[in-house]
Amino acid sequence: MCGIVGATAQRNVAPIILTGLSRLEYRGYDSAGICTLENDEFNCLKTTSKVATLINKVKERGCKGFLGIAHTRWATHGIPSETNAHPHICGNLALVHNGIIENFKELKAKLQEKGYVFKSETDTEVLLCLIHYHQQDSNSLKEALLKALNEVTGSYAIALINKSEPGVLYTARSGSPLVIGLGIGENFVASDVLALLPVTRRFIYLDEQEVAIVTTDKIDVCGLDGKEHIKKAQDADLDAESISKGSFDHFMQKEIFEQPSSLRNTLTERLDDDSVRLETVIGLKKDSFKDLQNIQIVACGTSFHAGLVGKYWFEELTHIPCNVDIASEYRYRHAVVGNNSLFITISQSGETADTLASLRLAKTQGYKNSLCICNVNGSSLVRESDFTLLTRAGAEIGVASTKAFTTQLLSLLMLALIIAEQKGSLTAQKRHELIESIRQLPSLCEKFLSKDKDILALASEFADKHHCLFLGRGVMYPIALEGALKLKEISYIHAEGYAAGELKHGPIALIDRNMPVVVVAPDNALMGKLVSNIEEVRARGGKLYIFNSEEHVLKADTQTKVISLSDCPEILQPILFTIPLQLLAYHCAVINGTDVDQPRNLAKSVTVE
Ligand code: G6P
Repeated sequence: MCGIVGATAQRNVAPIILTGLSRLEYRGYDSAGICTLENDEFNCLKTTSKVATLINKVKERGCKGFLGIAHTRWATHGIPSETNAHPHICGNLALVHNGIIENFKELKAKLQEKGYVFKSETDTEVLLCLIHYHQQDSNSLKEALLKALNEVTGSYAIALINKSEPGVLYTARSGSPLVIGLGIGENFVASDVLALLPVTRRFIYLDEQEVAIVTTDKIDVCGLDGKEHIKKAQDADLDAESISKGSFDHFMQKEIFEQPSSLRNTLTERLDDDSVRLETVIGLKKDSFKDLQNIQIVACGTSFHAGLVGKYWFEELTHIPCNVDIASEYRYRHAVVGNNSLFITISQSGETADTLASLRLAKTQGYKNSLCICNVNGSSLVRESDFTLLTRAGAEIGVASTKAFTTQLLSLLMLALIIAEQKGSLTAQKRHELIESIRQLPSLCEKFLSKDKDILALASEFADKHHCLFLGRGVMYPIALEGALKLKEISYIHAEGYAAGELKHGPIALIDRNMPVVVVAPDNALMGKLVSNIEEVRARGGKLYIFNSEEHVLKADTQTKVISLSDCPEILQPILFTIPLQLLAYHCAVINGTDVDQPRNLAKSVTVE
């Protein structure tokens, strides 16, 4: 979602902030803009196209200065248009904003009464005019900004510049992420560290409801009450290369093929002979889970699917009841919290608004502890949870989550083993066997990836279809859901995942020869049941695509294509059988010519509700 970049320096900042903006494209957006302070005047350029178009505009028309802000907008209030695109300007001020000002209508009406005329339909312009209005009864822009921020409800990350303060960048956050990048004689702000890695690796992470005044040599941070906050700088653990496509055509393709190494990273120095090391989970103690009686998982999108797999594992390996909710549902239902409950959030970004809101709600509901499984160290979820398990997938740029998902699954499995050890639900021998299986994961992942060509051939049969069903049973049911999600989000083919046993309760009515049915069918205890479901499809003329284990090859015929994949330990099947489904979605999208890495209407980081 919206991306912010800003800089104050003793050189032209336009190239820096435009590079930063390109590096935020992955978050998803529909328009972009830049504003620099040039000869004491704002120079503002916008586009409803890609950042590359904005860069060309800057080249053609010129836009430079030692102070500047830029933005990619994902429309919330008002259509994508140049008028609605940020930066917005009001008098001596220019503002970019990520988030939603919830009371913008009331504030707008008040400001209109005072004579303000609005050009755009955005809530951002309302916030800007409110700051501008408060300048009249304030001694400084800082004072006006604090007054305005204390009046708004909702979420924001902002960067603000003032014509009469040439070296000063004002920034603040509440509910939307923002980092400050530290340079030498120059400083920067951005929605995330990836934007600024070409210019710095040292960052200050703003906390909720903090305001920072950034100049070329100083960062002053305060709370919304104006009181000073002392902040520590941290080094980023990513480098600028983490967002290069290398020899791949798309980030998603690169990230699919990175999975053996991302899984290897997730495991590094975390396994002993018969246990997962305690320090795998930051903040954990030897007996943290000894009295654990209930687990609640909350997440969104692909991370929610990881949570659904986690439920099967937690209940099987730890014997602790586990509930899984979509975050946007959890936060508005009246959850009953059991004794000694652990609240787990799963998130690639650590900034998803609904997941974060659920964690904050959970903290008031009587959970014993909170734990987040997250890919971004320093993110809001990490900072606000008691315990953290970092997935170590590396930067994920493709909107469709791939390596983040498989490393989330691996992390859940390791967490289940830690809990099982503390609860005594598995013998050391059984834990040893599972750990030996887990060690094979990166090399097995390579074997599954080697089927890429077969899956490309399959995709060519699929790409012209309009609908598709994905079936799985047991722990493979969430994998069917994830396969369907991947296909629909990047190829725009309508796809639904079903528990195969549910077929006869509705979706079977859809089966005919135009409806491809993908079955995730590794060799496991539910194979017999699944075969019956496959026959139900076959009997109705449905076209079947079965992802199967070599050990238990199902029969192919004119109606049935079988893709046989390497045998693997049953515990790893959900992780490994995800890979061909990712490849299928990827190739269908490429054949259909969609924007694989930035599919229409989607955002990588959903920082508004
Ligand atoms: C967006 C992304 C998905 C992601 C979901 C949850 O919808 O497009 O790929 O699964 O957000 O994001 P999170 O960062 O919390 O895992």
